[in-house]
Amino acid sequence: MFHLGWFLGDSTGIHKWWGEWSSTSGKDWMKPDIYIDLATSLERCDFDLMFIEDTAMVEDTYEGTMETTLKYGMMAPKNDPMMYIPLLAQATKHLGLVGTVSTIQYPPYLAARQAVTLDHLTGGRSGINVVTSVTHRVAQNFGYDQHLAHAERYAMADEWMQVVSALWESWDPDAVVLDYDEPRYADYTKVHPINHEGKYFKCRGPLNTIPGPQRRPVVAQAGNSTGGRELAASDSDSSDGDGGRFSNRRSLRGRNSEHLYRAPHELPGNRDVQHQQHDLRRGVLSLPGTETARCGVWIQLAPPLSLADGSELASVSQRGPVGEGEAERDGA
Ligand SMILES: Cc1cc2nc3c(=O)[nH]c(=O)nc-3n(C[C@H](O)[C@H](O)[C@H](O)COP(=O)(O)O)c2cc1C
Repeated sequence: MFHLGWFLGDSTGIHKWWGEWSSTSGKDWMKPDIYIDLATSLERCDFDLMFIEDTAMVEDTYEGTMETTLKYGMMAPKNDPMMYIPLLAQATKHLGLVGTVSTIQYPPYLAARQAVTLDHLTGGRSGINVVTSVTHRVAQNFGYDQHLAHAERYAMADEWMQVVSALWESWDPDAVVLDYDEPRYADYTKVHPINHEGKYFKCRGPLNTIPGPQRRPVVAQAGNSTGGRELAASDSDSSDGDGGRFSNRRSLRGRNSEHLYRAPHELPGNRDVQHQQHDLRRGVLSLPGTETARCGVWIQLAPPLSLADGSELASVSQRGPVGEGEAERDGA
């Protein structure tokens, strides 16, 4: 058995907004109808999940400027993914809806409460994609001079998930009494402050809303590094990372590896970036077609790869097309 999920990255969709098949996405991407059309079509095709990415910044690592990003409308413009979830839930009946939440953007209380609210509003069909954010540019929009070191991002995310999970458990299953005669809404002895004081977060709790239909909303995680896989193994229900080494981790952390859905989908991580750059260059060079077509592919891939580790990929391969000189140097 397999499950189908749709990953919505760039807001203007999978086709370039200026090319063939793009229709009016360049001017209409922000309107509700285009998302509703996508979600209802996915539901008709028996998809389980629609997953909305987020990166809250305008990318300028590539060539050290926002020029390419904004010229092609890549990674920006982008609306807040969480706002789409109630809208899409209204238009669909069964589709799972997952929005991206970064551990450096959301304090855990806000995230836990928002996720539970969406769980109620969607009738138990919502989830969060927990990310640590891959670039300094996001961190700089949320009070940091630079993003934390990679291992520390995951240490923080681990604590963030602990707080969120504790808040989701802060109401016992039978805390709501709803006795109309007495009257009594909830039994206060079954609602618990969490009193969390850790390295990164301090949160008293309890949550000020009752658990939703799922009690614990679905958690997705896509990290590929050791820290990312640890986080996925301990706290998530779905992982988009390289799943090969999950089973041991998951049983070590006391959870059943069979209950982790693995969605094969790879993005370059912080490791092996040099290799990724090399493979990408060679891959693009080997494509058939004109240099302009290869340039289009390169432009779609190089800036996102650049931001993954803050490297300036453009300094390796210069603006746009992958030149002939480079092909010779690489022996391609
Ligand atoms: C399918 C998929 C979706 C992702 N979505 C996001 C996202 O919406 N926002 C984000 O900041 N990072 C996103 N990432 C990046 C991951 O969260 C992670 O940072 C990256 O894969 C590198 O993993 P690592 O940090 O464990 O090395 C995504 C990765 C994958 C594979």
